[in-house]
Amino acid sequence: MKKVLKLIGIWLLAIIVIVGAVLLYISIDGIPTYEVEKIEYQAISTPEAIERGEKLTVMLCATCHMNAETRKLSGLKMVDAPPEFGEVYAPNITQDKKYGIASWSDAELLYLLRTGIKRDGLYSPPYMMKLPNMADEDINAIIAFLKSDHSMVTADATPDVPTKPSLLTKILCRVSFKPFPMPIQKIKLPSSEDKVALGKYLAHNLDCFSCHSADFKTVDYLDPTLSEGYFGGGNKPLDLNGNVVLSSNLTPDKETGIGTWTTDKFIKAVKYGIIDNEKALKYPMIPYSQLTDDEASAIFEYLKTIPEITNKVNVQ
Ligand code: HEC
Ligand code: HEC
Repeated sequence: MKKVLKLIGIWLLAIIVIVGAVLLYISIDGIPTYEVEKIEYQAISTPEAIERGEKLTVMLCATCHMNAETRKLSGLKMVDAPPEFGEVYAPNITQDKKYGIASWSDAELLYLLRTGIKRDGLYSPPYMMKLPNMADEDINAIIAFLKSDHSMVTADATPDVPTKPSLLTKILCRVSFKPFPMPIQKIKLPSSEDKVALGKYLAHNLDCFSCHSADFKTVDYLDPTLSEGYFGGGNKPLDLNGNVVLSSNLTPDKETGIGTWTTDKFIKAVKYGIIDNEKALKYPMIPYSQLTDDEASAIFEYLKTIPEITNKVNVQ
């Protein structure tokens, strides 16, 4: 008996030592790197593309990269990043040569936005957004805007503060968070005639689904419809004081979702963050005022077609 116990003890000790060594290795080695595929790409910059790019960048990238002091995408600390991911800083993505992205080629930007792999091969954890399903035309518009002479992106020498990813982030980047493949085929914009298809495209590519499904850890960015609790709400994004603000159920469930809403109520909630002319929606639900009424109502039309989920989220 004693011998058996001793053997178990030795095994346990061996396991603890091995696990400890692996964790130490991951902690020192950090975020994994990947091979950077060389791709040919040059953004097509037209006034229309830059205008569309501005709209998308304000809705998608500014929440993290916009610095209120400089009024540019010069980066700042992300106080609403979950602390278990570490201390996260959104970098300067203005055209500054030293701290910004002036020296990044269009192809390097495209590759990062599609796959999550930076030009030095380092993988960007999920606290940086990726756009694996965005139409080529829209992603081109964002890159054209980043390289334009718009005041939000002209050079600003705010130094970058390196992000300090936690051990958990480093582990997850080896286990579950992986780069996305570079799309092989062209990704086309849905026709604006097909409202439901347009709404689906926007609900996915404006990232509505990630906050409004069950949990960031089980969100499927490649096929958003496979996310756990797809649009059923209850996810726990943080406000600027680090407090959880539960996300709402946007499925057509009549009791706990938006099944009884009118188009007008939905448009006002999404574009202005106001419900029934009285209640203001809390951060991180930002007003998407750049959306046209047609686009906002297309999202509503799409949400009416998805499976109902009964999930009462106590929103306020
Ligand atoms: C949720 C917050 C968030 C959003 C939204 C976001 N980013 Fe980022 N971004 C980050 C963080 C954090 C990093 C640093 C990642 C790292 O350290 O690997 C980053 C890194 C980058 C980089 C690399 C810069 C460098 O110097 O390494 C570029 C370029 C970039 N983001 C562009 C964009 C664009 C374009 C958008 C909108 C489509 C966007 N980001 C949306 C948080 C965000
Ligand atoms: C960063 C996370 C986040 C993103 C991205 C996001 N939302 Fe929200 N949304 C929330 C949270 C949290 C609430 C609840 C706010 C509150 O309690 O005041 C909310 C509330 C709402 C509401 C009000 C629902 C109700 O029952 O009161 C609607 C409608 C809505 N969001 C639609 C959208 C749409 C459409 C998009 C994409 C264009 C989107 N949201 C993107 C987090 C987000």
